[in-house]
Amino acid sequence: MPKLFVVTREGEEKVVEGQVGLSVMENIRDNGFDELLALCGGCCSCATCHVQIDPKDFDKLGALSDDENDLLDSSDHRTATSRLSCQIPFTEELDGLRVVIAPED
Ligand code: FES
Repeated sequence: MPKLFVVTREGEEKVVEGQVGLSVMENIRDNGFDELLALCGGCCSCATCHVQIDPKDFDKLGALSDDENDLLDSSDHRTATSRLSCQIPFTEELDGLRVVIAPED
């Protein structure tokens, strides 16, 4: 199974076995990272699934939508590699993806 590396807000890195077919948000949430609230359940309307992608991986992801872009703009913690994790389908090609859970807004 492809691996997903998740860095918590405390800076602790954990590796999980990623489930293809779920979003990155669902993979994070289902592995017990409670700090990723994902309040809207993946509808691209809350931005509480905000993660910062490791720059080495950013180009592997598809383009973000206007809605995702607008929501990320509402965060004080947006970086050049910020994404909403519910908008990223996890695939075999993303094996080794490393994401940092963004600080809470
Ligand atoms: S879970 Fe709400 S925008 Fe991603």
